[in-house]
Amino acid sequence: MAKASEINNGGQSGNGEPYFCKECKRNHTKGKIYKDHLKFARFEIDKNEIEEKSESNEKELESEVEEIFEDLEEDEDDIIELNEMEEEELDSDSNEVIINDANMCVEAIKKLPGVGEATLKKLIKAGFSSLESIAYTPPKIIQNESGLGDKTTAKLVKASMAQLKIGFKSAEDVWEYRKNISRITTGSQELDDLFGGGIETGCVVEFFGEFRTGKTQIAHQLCVNVQLPYEDGGLNGNALYIDTEGTFRPERIVQMSEGLDLDYKKILKNIIFGRAYNSDHQILLIKEAANLIKEKNIKLIIVDSLIGHFRSEYIGRGTLATRQQTINAHLHDLLRLTDIFPELCVIVTNQVQSKPDVFYGNPTVATGGNIVAHGSTIRVYLRKGKGEQRVAKMIDAPHLPEGEAVFSITENGITD
Ligand code: GTP
Ligand code: MG
Repeated sequence: MAKASEINNGGQSGNGEPYFCKECKRNHTKGKIYKDHLKFARFEIDKNEIEEKSESNEKELESEVEEIFEDLEEDEDDIIELNEMEEEELDSDSNEVIINDANMCVEAIKKLPGVGEATLKKLIKAGFSSLESIAYTPPKIIQNESGLGDKTTAKLVKASMAQLKIGFKSAEDVWEYRKNISRITTGSQELDDLFGGGIETGCVVEFFGEFRTGKTQIAHQLCVNVQLPYEDGGLNGNALYIDTEGTFRPERIVQMSEGLDLDYKKILKNIIFGRAYNSDHQILLIKEAANLIKEKNIKLIIVDSLIGHFRSEYIGRGTLATRQQTINAHLHDLLRLTDIFPELCVIVTNQVQSKPDVFYGNPTVATGGNIVAHGSTIRVYLRKGKGEQRVAKMIDAPHLPEGEAVFSITENGITD
């Protein structure tokens, strides 16, 4: 296809007379087609010049003009096609909203008093796509992230809480709820027993310990096991892996899947992986996760490791307060996800720091201080045993006794 810039067939026989172009107020030569004034030239040729041409020239010119018209039409077609594509793209963008629209959660938000199209879009864009996400998030955060006003936000939170009947309930109700809590098997019976029958959902579990104690290995194993059916100790769900240290290894997933006779391709497909390059990125990935959980059937979130980036970015005593505040907010983002999605388990790993001043007892404590200790629901300390063996110690759990379990890290993953 010829481009407009290539069209210049000056010197047509029988032409060549100069004339003044009224359209562009410049001297032109008859028979010439001006690339800069294609429309005007086309018009001139169309209306005035063709009449003056001899029969043969007329035909030549006509075919020339036709060609130009075709080219122009093709160009226009291209433009129309492009516009249509862009519109389609836009449509598919808004489709997400439309698809979500059909989603019950969004429908429920729409029914809240005072929620119009604009408010709904702002909420969804900021990741608040269910009543739960609005009800459980502090209004200040909703306000900052969605750009809604404080009065509107306060009303939305109140209305969402009322809809979800969040308030006091009897201990019996809580008991009923906890009886039905789901668990993920670790692959080791002993380790499962330490957790009271597998790692439970609806909470944040922290594994901390020295290097090579198996934190990352447990994280990998749980990404496989969460995909198992309920009867085999899984949740029939997918995993989201936030890797802050670059230690995620799909090879290990393949080995662990094969150890369980699972199709590793399917298992790999169902692990959504995000590499966090700094603490801000890590925080952002978790904020974005809120929108993925329902859509991708995510039942397990791994953050390996929780503190690494914060530790290297916030250096010096002067930054300590800000660091702790940021970690606290990040942990609360994770905790909130488990409130919003009760069948979600969050696993964070944590390093330990040496305490050279401690002579008796355990000389290592988890990094992150009290903020992390209080933020996680269940805390387990890992240490090395003989060879492949590792020892897990329950440090803190609201309902589990302190105890220890020995498990092994083998080629096929975590076992007894
Ligand atoms: P840091 O991230 O460095 O703090 O350590 P971590 O606690 O995350 O250690 P990780 O879970 O990566 O454990 C690494 C250890 O797992 C290795 O040193 C091995 O002992 C063991 N391991 C990893 N892959 C295999 C394997 O294929 N076979 C066996 N038998 N052991 C393995
Ligand atoms: Mg690790």
